[in-house]
Amino acid sequence: MSQIQVAQSKLETLKKEALEKIQAAPSSQALYQVKVEYWGKSGHVTEIMKEMAALPKEDKPGFGKLVNEVKQALEEAYVKAEDGLKVKEIEARMQSEELDLTLPGVPRAVGSEHPVSSVTNEIVAILGRLGYSLRQGPLIESDFYNFEALNIPKNHPARDMQDTFFVDQTHVLRTHTSPIQVHVYQSEKPPLRLIGTGAVFRCDSDISHLPHFHQIEGICVDEKVSMADLKGTISFFVKEFFGASLAVRFRPSFFPFTEPSAEVDCQCPICKGNGCSLCKQSGWIEIGGCGLVNPKVFEQSNIDTSKWQGFAFGFGIERMAIIKYGITDIRLFPENDLRFLGQFVTGGAL
Ligand code: PHE
Repeated sequence: MSQIQVAQSKLETLKKEALEKIQAAPSSQALYQVKVEYWGKSGHVTEIMKEMAALPKEDKPGFGKLVNEVKQALEEAYVKAEDGLKVKEIEARMQSEELDLTLPGVPRAVGSEHPVSSVTNEIVAILGRLGYSLRQGPLIESDFYNFEALNIPKNHPARDMQDTFFVDQTHVLRTHTSPIQVHVYQSEKPPLRLIGTGAVFRCDSDISHLPHFHQIEGICVDEKVSMADLKGTISFFVKEFFGASLAVRFRPSFFPFTEPSAEVDCQCPICKGNGCSLCKQSGWIEIGGCGLVNPKVFEQSNIDTSKWQGFAFGFGIERMAIIKYGITDIRLFPENDLRFLGQFVTGGAL
């Protein structure tokens, strides 16, 4: 055999060997090893090029071409085999990892309105239907807005009613939403129907009191406003909020900024007046304070008391939620435990 024939048959043998190994490779990794072994940088087929040096000059180009053809054929076979192996490997992985693509996904927790927010929004919507619109005020109030303009003078015992957090000598964390009406009187002219709402602060904490809670207050200023209007408005509100015709009663009380003043009770929405643990067997539940705006408050804000009268009522929002949902401990509201909050989600659990 001539030199070129020897080299050609060697190449043929290598090609045959490599093709067999490509077909037999059990994995894409094993397949890659075949490539390295035969036509990688120092593979057998690549190495055979060295034999070219010993070939007669006229045989060199033909042999070089042949080597390249073999490499190309091996590469094509490799790509084909690799495709097949990869599909098999993915299928095997899917089986061994037991990935069931038909299983439903893991649902993400969906946030919801805090019950204090939803009760606030509900009350604002009910009063909105009576023509009341929303106002807000600062959480830190001067002594003037929180007390003096509301007819609670310095050193007056009425200040004891509201356990106050003082920020400094003349500023407090507002103890109620009533100062909002003073801000409004200074910037708007009657007739007025407004709702003041937001956080209020009192130095008090137990099963039914929080140092940081929320109030909602309704104010109506108009000509010829009477206790009958106040009672009608609150009765309508109670019916709309609790969704039942519950009796409302007024007990005489005292607030410096209203005269006359009353505490508002409504029939217990849980037992409908028969007596239960929420209403302490009395059949009635206190929901807030109210009264006709004291003319002294109007005078402070230069509102003509011979023309304008007003009524005001104020409710604790957590308290309204407690009554509506039968909650036993007011401290659950600020804890933000999702197991508690999730019970108020409409349209699905948290
Ligand atoms: N501001 C009073 C309080 O917090 C509630 C109230 C509002 C009473 C309006 C009468 C009229 O105690």
